[in-house]
Formats: sequence, structure tokens, C-alpha cells
Amino acid sequence: MEHLSRFLEAHPELRYIFTGGKGGVGKTVAAAALALQFAQQGQRTLIASLNPVHSLSSLFDQDLSGGKIRPVAGVENLYAMEVDASDVVARYRENIAQRVREFLRYADIPVDARPFVDIAVTNPAFEESAMFDKMVDVMLSEGEHYDKLVFDTAAVANAIRLIGLSKIYGLWLQRMIESRKEALSLRVQLSFRREKVMEEVQKDPMLADLIAMDERFKAVKERLVDPQRTAFFFVTLPLMLPISVVTRFIEQVKAYDIPVGGVLVNGIIRGDEAEKAQGDEYLQNKFQEQAQYMRIIQEQLGDLVRAHLPLYPKEIQGLEAVRRAAADLFNPDQEWALSLVS
Ligand SMILES: Nc1ncnc2c1ncn2[C@@H]1O[C@H](COP(=O)(O)OP(=O)(O)O)[C@@H](O)[C@H]1O
Ligand SMILES: [Mg+2]
Repeated sequence: MEHLSRFLEAHPELRYIFTGGKGGVGKTVAAAALALQFAQQGQRTLIASLNPVHSLSSLFDQDLSGGKIRPVAGVENLYAMEVDASDVVARYRENIAQRVREFLRYADIPVDARPFVDIAVTNPAFEESAMFDKMVDVMLSEGEHYDKLVFDTAAVANAIRLIGLSKIYGLWLQRMIESRKEALSLRVQLSFRREKVMEEVQKDPMLADLIAMDERFKAVKERLVDPQRTAFFFVTLPLMLPISVVTRFIEQVKAYDIPVGGVLVNGIIRGDEAEKAQGDEYLQNKFQEQAQYMRIIQEQLGDLVRAHLPLYPKEIQGLEAVRRAAADLFNPDQEWALSLVS
């Protein structure tokens, strides 16, 4: 097993870090622990939450809301950003509406833009597209200002679509740019006043817009598929469903050439804790069940496991609790967990 701290030492250029996994497995906790550790090592770190539900504020026990970057009180070098989904969606909607209106006007199509806008913004992936766009924004605008950017993404399906979208967007934009060029060259050919039209083509706001968008996605894609700069960490519990989600997730992510940093196994009942609670039948049963899933994890994900986190007696809340989780996550001595499998 290559431990998390070893992996990070071997990837000093790592800048974009993501956590993924089923809902409730500890993605936000893992993202916070990673970010905190980076900051404590003296690296300027931004943790950005792209979840519909606010989570960083409650985890760090301070108000980090509002969609702006804020320093985390009590930790040097650590900054947080809690992206407000409804805000992002509203802005994105307005942005798309503007584009559609401009397009219709520029193409001299005299129709009401509203139905077109409605179609564009009511597809089921719209919120995800909006969040993805926001993530792209953060990566491009803040990427150079931090040593590490840790992204806490939403549930599994969201995150995978988020990634898939970058590929689809790329293809879609390419097509849009080509058809825009075709339309414009047709206009030039049909016109008697060629020079005048050529001038117009060069100033085409649609084409300029599309090219800018395409460049943005290319830049992000380049970062996302670079294993020196990007790593996805998948979080699981020693339970069937979260394990299969992670296994499936890893396959999909690999298909998109996105580098897998590894798997973090969370919520492990420690052997010494189980020992102490001999009379607790529930805990004993859970402990037995977990041993079985630890073996499955070992079989299916063995090489990718980077660290284990114990199940704490209370949920993780407040800076001290996050500090504790970070210390456990980065403790290279994982024998307490590995011994459960043998
Ligand atoms: N190792 C742990 N021990 C105790 N509670 C935990 C542990 N990991 C996570 N939790 C708690 O479980 C809940 C879900 O964790 P969270 O990180 O928000 O999951 P996700 O972001 O994947 O939905 C939170 O209340 C968190 O405090
Ligand atoms: Mg979360």
C-alpha cells in the first residue's frame, strides 16, 4: 500500500484535488482534512465546496458562506469558498439567455427568444452544467493563486457527469465553432460587398464567444487529465454500496483519462475499541461485518488504498475534529486498519 503521504510526496506538483464517492461517506470531511494538512504544511490552500448543501461552514464551525473566498479563522494559509448552487444556477441561466438572444439577433432570426432560452435551461443536467462551469471558473481564475485547490464535489452521479461534460462540451463547442464558421463564410460568399462582410466576420461576437469558451474548456481539460497536477480521491466506508460506487466510479473516471489519486477508507471501527466493548453485541456485529468488507476492499481496490480513517465516537465538527481527522489520515502507520484484513 502506497500511503497518502508517500503519494503526495511523489506528486509535488499536485494542485487540483477532488474527493468523490457516495453521499454521506465522508467526502467533505476528507476534503477538509486534506486541505487542512496542506495548509499546515505551509501551502497556500483553497477548499471549494460545489455542493447544493452547505457543508464547510458547519464542518469548520464558522460562516464560510456567500460564494466568496474567505480565510478560515484559526488556520494560516487556508481559504474556503462555499459555492451557493442557486446563485450559480441563476447567473448561468442569465448568461445562457443572453447568448441565445444575441445569437438570434445576430443571425437575424426574428422570433421570441424565450422558448429557446427555456429549452436551454430546463434540461435535467442544467444545474450540474452550471456547477461545472463554476468549477472551471475557479480552476482558471484561482489556479495560479494557490498551491493546492481542493474541490468537494456533490454525490457520485453528479461528479461523474461533471467530468463527462467536459468531454461532451469540448465536442459540442468544436461543432458549434465549425458551423458558425460555415454560416459566416456562406454569408461572405453571398454578399456583394465582400470586404464589409469580412470585417463583420472578424468581429462576430458569437464566434469570438465560442472560441473563448472552447479555449477555457481545453485549458481545464488539460489540467484535469494531467496526473502530475490533478488527483481524484474516492472515499468509501467498509460497506457494500459505497464500495461498489467507488469501484464503478474509478472505471468511469479512468475512461475519461482522469487521474485517480486513490481510495480513502473511512469510518473504520478500531480493533482495540471493539476489544474494549466485548459486551456490545451491535458493535461486535458491525466489527465482524466490517472485516468482511475490508477484505473485499483489499481484493478489489488494494493497490489504490491510500489511507484509513477510524470511526469517531462523534461526528466531525469544528476545527479540532478536522485537525484530528487530518492527523489520522496522514499517519503513515496504518497497521491498526491493515491488521483487520489479515
Ligand atoms: N470517521 C468518521 N467518524 C465519525 N463521523 C464521521 C466520520 N466521517 C464522517 N463522519 C460524519 O458523517 C457525516 C457525513 O460526512 P460528510 O463528510 O459530510 O459526507 P459526504 O460529504 O460524503 O456526504 C457527517 O456528519 C460527518 O461528521
Ligand atoms: Mg459533502
